[in-house]
Amino acid sequence: MSEPYVMSEPYVHVPATEILAALTEHDEIAIKHLRESWDGLRADRYLGPGATYRRRRYSEFRLTRGTLERVPHGAFRQAAEINPLHGGAAREFAPIEQEVAESPVLAALVRTLLDRLPGSFDVSTGAVGIHQIRIIASRDAEGLPAPEGIHEDGHHFVAQVLMRRENVEGGVSQLYDREMAPLFRTLLTEPFETVIIDDRRVFHGVSAVEVAGDLPVGVRDMMLVDFFPRGDRDRTHDCPGPR
Ligand SMILES: [Fe+2]
Repeated sequence: MSEPYVMSEPYVHVPATEILAALTEHDEIAIKHLRESWDGLRADRYLGPGATYRRRRYSEFRLTRGTLERVPHGAFRQAAEINPLHGGAAREFAPIEQEVAESPVLAALVRTLLDRLPGSFDVSTGAVGIHQIRIIASRDAEGLPAPEGIHEDGHHFVAQVLMRRENVEGGVSQLYDREMAPLFRTLLTEPFETVIIDDRRVFHGVSAVEVAGDLPVGVRDMMLVDFFPRGDRDRTHDCPGPR
């Protein structure tokens, strides 16, 4: 008798210790350099007048023999039905810096995430989009990690990796099923602590980030790693649900 098919959970919460254990062959300096590269991000020009709370870089890669091979830089697009705020528009983000794109730590990190996806993904036909994002909270303005509210990204899987959390409150990660019922919530606190979602099976959101106490500014740095079929430039998938 064949085994009954058991569908995996549509998300996985990976502790920082597990990610760091997979990076032990890399020295601490290289890991520190990767985290510090978030200091060199560029302003996100698509937030609306006067909004300066988000900085980012983005590049797309193929995985070739376990290493990341960057593809020619292009605009980032999402379908209008996926992202009501920016969907249908081509957003031009600065590319990830060469040294970061070629970092063995980054490649090892992506391989580690790939091993933990909550479902199958064919690397030979797949691509990987990497976003470096910094949300800045100040006394004047909170930072919005997800200004579109509860949403989907339009990929197959998305890994949300915390890189830095300094002088901030809030930023709670929340997942919902396709009927918008709450499924999971957590506060990522440790560098490299990660949530990986099956973007076709859950919606997600992140609460606002506020500066802590009397401090002037706080930051929350995230790496988002999108996994999607190669050539899926409009980032659509075939699992529509409530918005
Ligand atoms: Fe998202």
